Order: sequence, then C-alpha cells, then structure tokens
Amino acid sequence: MLTVERLSASYGPVRALDSVSLSAAEGEITAVLGANGAGKTTLLRTISGLVRPSDGHVRLGGRDLSRVSTEDLPALGLAHVPEGRGVLAELTVEENLRLGALGARGRVTTADLRRIYDLFPVLADRKNGLAHVLSGGERQMLVIGRALLSRPKVLLLDEPSLGLAPRIVARIFGLLRGLVHDEGLAVVLVEQNARSALSIADHGVVLNLGRVVVRRDAAALVADDALRHAYLGF
Ligand SMILES: Nc1ncnc2c1ncn2[C@@H]1O[C@H](COP(=O)(O)OP(=O)(O)OP(=O)(O)O)[C@@H](O)[C@H]1O
Ligand SMILES: [Mg+2]
Repeated sequence: MLTVERLSASYGPVRALDSVSLSAAEGEITAVLGANGAGKTTLLRTISGLVRPSDGHVRLGGRDLSRVSTEDLPALGLAHVPEGRGVLAELTVEENLRLGALGARGRVTTADLRRIYDLFPVLADRKNGLAHVLSGGERQMLVIGRALLSRPKVLLLDEPSLGLAPRIVARIFGLLRGLVHDEGLAVVLVEQNARSALSIADHGVVLNLGRVVVRRDAAALVADDALRHAYLGF
C-alpha cells in the first residue's frame, strides 16, 4: 500500500532522515520507534509532503507522491494525524469532525458521523460541546475520528499515546487494532511508548539518528531481550 524507498531529508545542515525504507501493508500496523530526535516525526512529515525529501521516493498504491500536492493526499487515501492533537478549540466536536472529510470527499453524511460515534461514544456525548473542553484522551479520539472520516487507506499516527493514562492508551490502541483488522487499513504508528505500540503492531522499525537500525516482526522484537534493552528501554 505505502512504500518508502531510501528516503532522506535535512533541515539545513541537520540530516534528519538518512536513506529510510519501510512499507505499510493493508491490514497491518508498522510501529516506528526510537529516541527523541531520531527522525520519526520527520519521516511522517516527509511521507505527507510537508518536508521535501532530498532523496528517495514515497509510493502510495504504486503512485509516486513526489508529484502530488499535499492537499490532494486525502483524496488518494492518505491521512496524517500529527503530534499534539490539534483541534479547533472554538468549534464543536462535531464541527471538528466534519472538517476531517474536507479535501477527501467534501460532504459528511449522518452515517459517516454515526460510524465515528459508534467507535468513540464519548464523542457522541459531547458532539455539541466545544472541543477545547475535551480531555487529552478525548482529543486524541477526536483527531483520530476526524482522520478516519476521510476513509483513508493509509493512516499515519504521530505519538497518539503521549500524555495519556495507560488505560486510555490501551483503549485507543485496542480500537485501532480492530479498525485495521476490520477495514484493512494500513497504519504507520510512531511511538515513544514502544511496549504498547509493539503490543498491537505487526512490524517494528527502530530509527536512530535518522537511520533504520532494527527492522523485525513486532513479536520477534519484543522477544529479543538484548535489542529491547538496547533500543526500546523496556
Ligand atoms: N523544523 C526543524 N528545523 C530544524 N531541525 C529540525 C526541525 N524539526 C526537527 N529537526 C531536527 O531533526 C531531527 C529529527 O527530529 P524529529 O522531530 O523528526 O524527531 P522525533 O523522532 O520525532 O523526536 P521526538 O520523539 O522528540 O518527537 C532532530 O535532530 C531535530 O532537532
Ligand atoms: Mg516526534
């Protein structure tokens, strides 16, 4: 579905990505792990065209994305949930959700919204409330729900667990696993929380200083004590 081939990117003299290759297949979660500054966010930003690569390619369903503008990516099936859970604070929960489909298909139907509310009932309870009163976990559900409204084939998630209580992380990750299974979504999950991410991922990729240093099946990575201690801190 999504393939990243020898992707490199720099910020001035800082080489943030150095020849990174990975793929995300339908119905699978690829966890991208690594320390602060490893290049995880830059990888997602480069995939979605927010950072221009100095080398390499990104393909979505065989199509080279270097010639596609960022605004057209939702229509091609790529959704990116950036770090930081940005919601439009002065809009209601439902207005925030409706924005998710802009650029992808235009109009959001009641059935589209119902699907998201079934997945995240807390959003249904608060649909007419302003987004800025939501808790961290609720905001995370809102930004994921908003991304899902564009019916993506590939979902890029940047640190969805940041600052959330373990119970909420488990809930959101459980829902994510279900979605991937039921809808054949391909997910690239960037996480500091390696233990939780690997518990739902099929594959694990560890970045260090912009390079891929480990690439394993998630279960094999968890089972390897030396790798786990060296790179993942658990
Ligand atoms: N806009 C920018 N301008 C200059 N340097 C940047 C910029 N964004 C990131 N960098 C640098 O690029 C490198 C990779 O940063 P990136 O944000 O991709 O890391 P990360 O793995 O997402 O880290 P974290 O876990 O802290 O979110 C770091 O050295 C960082 O300082
Ligand atoms: Mg980051």
